[in-house]
Amino acid sequence: MAQIIRLGVNVDHVATVRNARGGVHPDPVAIAKLAIAAGADGITAHLREDRRHIRDADIERLMAEIDRPLNFEMAATDEMVAIALRRQPHAACLVPEKREERTTEGGLDVVGQRRHLEPAVRELVAAGVRVSLFVEADAATLEASAAMGAPVVELHTGTWCEAIAHGRADEAAREFDRLAEGARRASALGLEVHAGHGLDYASAETISALPEIAELNIGHYLVGEALAVGFPETIRLMKAAIARGRRKAAA
Ligand code: PXP
Repeated sequence: MAQIIRLGVNVDHVATVRNARGGVHPDPVAIAKLAIAAGADGITAHLREDRRHIRDADIERLMAEIDRPLNFEMAATDEMVAIALRRQPHAACLVPEKREERTTEGGLDVVGQRRHLEPAVRELVAAGVRVSLFVEADAATLEASAAMGAPVVELHTGTWCEAIAHGRADEAAREFDRLAEGARRASALGLEVHAGHGLDYASAETISALPEIAELNIGHYLVGEALAVGFPETIRLMKAAIARGRRKAAA
């Protein structure tokens, strides 16, 4: 078990605020630097097909200007694979993408989409990019992810977080058990286990108690909290929540 869990800070919604006025402020690269100075272990950015938040120039600048790993979130399209191969980020997290969705709505269909995903995974891995697959925590998906040669899976925590947020305690408990079992299974398959989507201080603390978790990727909540207490303080509070959770795993 790693003593610390890396925090990847997703700056997509800094770009959302910027794009609301079509200008250059706030700058996701400047905020990424602030986050790193406050303790972020990496930066995550999702270049969507419709460029609704992060733009190509943001990825270019993040690669050039930040001194922590960039986790490039992307759909497994020819266009995005070409960009990832050209930019060579530290990591690429493959996600499903639908034009009409507000945010990524679930994990990849690794079993059904195997023929489509496998060449992208192979090319990126061969180029030295650490590939993670954003997946639901079910056995068949995790086994197919390992068989495809991806070194990492990111477990989709969105359904669990939604259940908590809406007070559906039974569903939340079931979802958490599924995540815990999935984390164990993924680790036993030799996969590094990340998690993300919808996490806040409390859920990040809870999931950090799962010993297999090596990294959390968090965005929307951090950007929202930063309105109240500022980005650096938000990162410090999130790091503290994660550290509390990890101490429970060690206990
Ligand atoms: N991980 C993945 C794969 C995602 O698609 C997202 C959303 O962009 C996140 C993590 C971060 O989710 P949130 O913004 O809800 O913290």
